[in-house]
Amino acid sequence: MNCDYVAFEGIDGSGKSSIIEQLSKILDENKTTNKIVREPGGTKVGEGIRELLLSHDYKVDPLTEALLFCAQRSQLVNELIKPSIQNEIKILSDRSAYSSVAYQGVGRELGYEKIYQLNDIAIGGFWPEKVVLLDIDPLVSLDRQKVADRIGSDKIEFFQNIREGYLRLSEEFSESFLVLDAEKNLEENLMKICNWLGIDKAK
Ligand code: TYD
Repeated sequence: MNCDYVAFEGIDGSGKSSIIEQLSKILDENKTTNKIVREPGGTKVGEGIRELLLSHDYKVDPLTEALLFCAQRSQLVNELIKPSIQNEIKILSDRSAYSSVAYQGVGRELGYEKIYQLNDIAIGGFWPEKVVLLDIDPLVSLDRQKVADRIGSDKIEFFQNIREGYLRLSEEFSESFLVLDAEKNLEENLMKICNWLGIDKAK
Protein backbone atom coordinates (compact mmCIF):
# COMPACT_ATOMS: atom_id res chain seq x y z
CA MET A 1 0.00 0.00 0.00
CA ASN A 2 1.44 3.31 -1.07
CA CYS A 3 0.50 5.34 2.05
CA ASP A 4 0.10 4.84 5.83
CA TYR A 5 -3.18 6.56 6.60
CA VAL A 6 -6.25 6.35 4.39
CA ALA A 7 -9.72 7.58 5.30
CA PHE A 8 -13.09 6.54 3.89
CA GLU A 9 -15.71 9.23 3.67
CA GLY A 10 -19.30 9.64 2.54
CA ILE A 11 -22.76 10.43 3.80
CA ASP A 12 -24.67 8.01 6.04
CA GLY A 13 -25.45 4.75 4.26
CA SER A 14 -22.79 5.20 1.54
CA GLY A 15 -21.33 1.77 2.30
CA LYS A 16 -17.97 2.69 3.85
CA SER A 17 -17.92 -0.12 6.38
CA SER A 18 -18.23 -3.01 3.89
CA ILE A 19 -15.51 -1.57 1.65
CA ILE A 20 -13.16 -1.07 4.61
CA GLU A 21 -13.66 -4.63 5.87
CA GLN A 22 -12.96 -6.09 2.43
CA LEU A 23 -9.88 -3.96 1.97
CA SER A 24 -8.55 -4.94 5.38
CA LYS A 25 -8.91 -8.63 4.41
CA ILE A 26 -7.00 -8.07 1.18
CA LEU A 27 -4.21 -6.34 3.13
CA ASP A 28 -4.14 -9.26 5.60
CA GLU A 29 -3.79 -11.70 2.69
CA ASN A 30 -0.90 -9.59 1.40
CA LYS A 31 0.70 -9.68 4.88
CA THR A 32 0.32 -5.92 5.26
CA THR A 33 -0.38 -5.19 8.92
CA ASN A 34 -3.38 -2.88 9.16
CA LYS A 35 -5.86 -1.54 11.64
CA ILE A 36 -9.41 -0.29 11.13
CA VAL A 37 -10.33 2.71 13.27
CA ARG A 38 -13.67 4.46 13.42
CA GLU A 39 -14.72 8.00 14.15
CA PRO A 40 -16.27 9.03 16.37
CA GLY A 41 -14.63 6.51 18.69
CA GLY A 42 -11.62 4.23 18.43
CA THR A 43 -10.32 4.93 21.95
CA LYS A 44 -11.93 4.58 25.38
CA VAL A 45 -12.35 8.36 25.66
CA GLY A 46 -13.56 8.51 22.06
CA GLU A 47 -16.17 5.81 22.56
CA GLY A 48 -17.50 7.79 25.57
CA ILE A 49 -17.74 10.91 23.42
CA ARG A 50 -19.40 8.84 20.66
CA GLU A 51 -22.25 8.05 23.02
CA LEU A 52 -22.72 11.79 23.76
CA LEU A 53 -22.68 12.61 20.06
CA LEU A 54 -24.91 9.92 18.62
CA SER A 55 -27.43 8.98 21.29
CA HIS A 56 -30.96 10.24 20.74
CA ASP A 57 -30.99 11.08 24.49
CA TYR A 58 -29.04 14.35 24.14
CA LYS A 59 -29.74 17.65 22.42
CA VAL A 60 -26.34 18.87 21.25
CA ASP A 61 -25.67 22.43 20.14
CA PRO A 62 -23.87 22.56 16.71
CA LEU A 63 -20.66 24.14 18.06
CA THR A 64 -20.61 21.71 21.00
CA GLU A 65 -21.00 18.94 18.43
CA ALA A 66 -18.05 20.22 16.39
CA LEU A 67 -15.89 20.50 19.52
CA LEU A 68 -16.78 17.00 20.71
CA PHE A 69 -15.80 15.60 17.31
CA CYS A 70 -12.50 17.49 17.60
CA ALA A 71 -11.92 16.17 21.12
CA GLN A 72 -12.39 12.50 20.20
CA ARG A 73 -10.24 13.03 17.10
CA SER A 74 -7.36 14.60 19.01
CA GLN A 75 -7.38 11.61 21.37
CA LEU A 76 -7.54 9.14 18.47
CA VAL A 77 -4.66 10.67 16.53
CA ASN A 78 -2.36 10.84 19.56
CA GLU A 79 -3.31 7.62 21.33
CA LEU A 80 -3.78 5.30 18.38
CA ILE A 81 -3.09 6.56 14.87
CA LYS A 82 0.39 8.06 15.26
CA PRO A 83 1.78 5.22 17.44
CA SER A 84 0.36 2.60 15.03
CA ILE A 85 1.97 4.25 12.03
CA GLN A 86 5.26 4.44 13.94
CA ASN A 87 4.92 0.67 14.38
CA GLU A 88 4.41 0.22 10.64
CA ILE A 89 0.69 -0.50 10.90
CA LYS A 90 -1.43 0.89 8.06
CA ILE A 91 -4.53 2.80 9.19
CA LEU A 92 -7.90 2.38 7.46
CA SER A 93 -10.12 5.01 8.99
CA ASP A 94 -13.91 4.96 8.88
CA ARG A 95 -14.29 8.78 8.68
CA SER A 96 -11.81 11.51 9.60
CA ALA A 97 -11.58 15.28 10.10
CA TYR A 98 -12.98 15.66 6.57
CA SER A 99 -16.32 14.37 7.95
CA SER A 100 -16.44 17.37 10.25
CA VAL A 101 -15.74 19.85 7.45
CA ALA A 102 -18.66 18.35 5.49
CA TYR A 103 -21.11 17.63 8.36
CA GLN A 104 -20.41 20.42 10.86
CA GLY A 105 -18.88 22.99 8.50
CA VAL A 106 -21.33 22.69 5.62
CA GLY A 107 -24.24 20.57 6.94
CA ARG A 108 -24.58 22.47 10.21
CA GLU A 109 -23.48 25.71 8.52
CA LEU A 110 -20.69 26.45 11.00
CA GLY A 111 -18.40 27.32 8.07
CA TYR A 112 -16.25 25.15 5.80
CA GLU A 113 -13.05 27.12 6.39
CA LYS A 114 -13.63 27.62 10.12
CA ILE A 115 -14.23 23.92 10.80
CA TYR A 116 -11.27 23.00 8.63
CA GLN A 117 -9.05 25.25 10.79
CA LEU A 118 -10.54 24.00 14.05
CA ASN A 119 -9.80 20.42 13.04
CA ASP A 120 -6.35 21.30 11.83
CA ILE A 121 -5.62 22.49 15.39
CA ALA A 122 -7.24 19.40 16.97
CA ILE A 123 -5.15 16.95 14.95
CA GLY A 124 -1.99 19.07 14.79
CA GLY A 125 -2.11 19.03 11.00
CA PHE A 126 -2.10 15.21 10.91
CA TRP A 127 -4.67 14.75 8.11
CA PRO A 128 -5.16 11.41 6.30
CA GLU A 129 -2.77 11.11 3.37
CA LYS A 130 -5.47 9.71 1.08
CA VAL A 131 -9.26 9.81 1.11
CA VAL A 132 -11.75 7.56 -0.64
CA LEU A 133 -15.03 9.43 -1.06
CA LEU A 134 -18.07 7.22 -1.66
CA ASP A 135 -20.35 9.66 -3.41
CA ILE A 136 -24.08 8.93 -3.48
CA ASP A 137 -27.46 10.60 -3.69
CA PRO A 138 -28.88 10.86 -0.14
CA LEU A 139 -32.25 9.66 -1.42
CA VAL A 140 -30.60 6.32 -2.21
CA SER A 141 -28.20 6.06 0.74
CA LEU A 142 -30.67 6.96 3.48
CA ASP A 143 -32.90 4.17 2.23
CA ARG A 144 -30.06 1.68 2.71
CA GLN A 145 -29.49 2.71 6.32
CA LYS A 146 -30.57 0.17 8.91
CA VAL A 147 -30.50 2.15 12.16
CA ALA A 148 -30.17 5.93 12.12
CA ASP A 149 -28.27 7.64 14.96
CA ARG A 150 -29.07 11.21 16.08
CA ILE A 151 -27.04 12.87 13.30
CA GLY A 152 -27.99 10.27 10.69
CA SER A 153 -31.69 10.86 11.21
CA ASP A 154 -31.68 14.51 10.09
CA LYS A 155 -33.65 15.73 7.07
CA ILE A 156 -32.69 15.10 3.43
CA GLU A 157 -31.52 18.71 2.77
CA PHE A 158 -28.90 18.32 5.50
CA PHE A 159 -27.36 15.35 3.63
CA GLN A 160 -27.62 17.10 0.27
CA ASN A 161 -25.53 19.94 1.70
CA ILE A 162 -23.03 17.50 3.22
CA ARG A 163 -22.65 15.81 -0.15
CA GLU A 164 -21.85 19.22 -1.68
CA GLY A 165 -19.34 19.83 1.10
CA TYR A 166 -17.58 16.56 0.32
CA LEU A 167 -17.46 17.33 -3.40
CA ARG A 168 -15.96 20.75 -2.63
CA LEU A 169 -13.28 19.05 -0.51
CA SER A 170 -12.55 16.55 -3.29
CA GLU A 171 -11.99 19.44 -5.71
CA GLU A 172 -9.84 21.45 -3.32
CA PHE A 173 -7.73 18.40 -2.38
CA SER A 174 -8.00 16.58 -5.70
CA GLU A 175 -4.47 15.15 -5.42
CA SER A 176 -5.40 13.15 -2.29
CA PHE A 177 -9.05 12.28 -3.06
CA LEU A 178 -10.48 9.35 -5.02
CA VAL A 179 -14.19 9.92 -5.73
CA LEU A 180 -16.25 6.80 -6.41
CA ASP A 181 -19.86 6.28 -7.38
CA ALA A 182 -21.20 4.39 -4.33
CA GLU A 183 -24.07 2.96 -6.39
CA LYS A 184 -21.61 0.89 -8.45
CA ASN A 185 -21.01 -2.66 -7.25
CA LEU A 186 -18.64 -3.24 -4.39
CA GLU A 187 -16.16 -5.43 -6.34
CA GLU A 188 -15.74 -2.77 -9.01
CA ASN A 189 -15.10 -0.04 -6.45
CA LEU A 190 -12.76 -2.27 -4.48
CA MET A 191 -10.69 -2.87 -7.61
CA LYS A 192 -10.40 0.88 -8.23
CA ILE A 193 -9.34 1.49 -4.62
CA CYS A 194 -6.70 -1.26 -4.79
CA ASN A 195 -5.26 0.17 -8.00
CA TRP A 196 -5.17 3.68 -6.56
CA LEU A 197 -3.54 2.53 -3.31
CA GLY A 198 -1.08 0.25 -5.08
CA ILE A 199 -2.48 -2.92 -3.49
CA ASP A 200 -2.10 -6.21 -5.33
CA LYS A 201 -5.60 -7.75 -5.17
CA ALA A 202 -4.71 -11.01 -6.90
CA LYS A 203 -2.29 -12.24 -4.23
P1 TYD B 1 -20.69 6.64 11.51
O1 TYD B 1 -20.48 5.81 12.74
O2 TYD B 1 -19.65 6.56 10.46
O3 TYD B 1 -22.11 6.27 10.93
P2 TYD B 1 -22.48 5.67 9.52
O4 TYD B 1 -21.77 4.34 9.44
O5 TYD B 1 -23.98 5.55 9.60
O6 TYD B 1 -22.04 6.62 8.48
O7 TYD B 1 -20.85 8.16 11.91
C1 TYD B 1 -21.81 8.50 12.86
C2 TYD B 1 -22.48 9.80 12.53
O8 TYD B 1 -21.64 10.91 12.91
C3 TYD B 1 -22.82 10.00 11.07
O9 TYD B 1 -24.14 10.51 11.01
C4 TYD B 1 -21.85 11.06 10.62
C5 TYD B 1 -21.59 11.85 11.86
N1 TYD B 1 -20.28 12.55 11.90
C6 TYD B 1 -20.24 13.94 11.88
O10 TYD B 1 -21.29 14.61 11.84
N2 TYD B 1 -19.02 14.57 11.97
C7 TYD B 1 -17.86 13.88 12.07
O11 TYD B 1 -16.77 14.50 12.16
C8 TYD B 1 -17.91 12.44 12.08
C9 TYD B 1 -16.65 11.63 12.22
C10 TYD B 1 -19.15 11.82 12.00
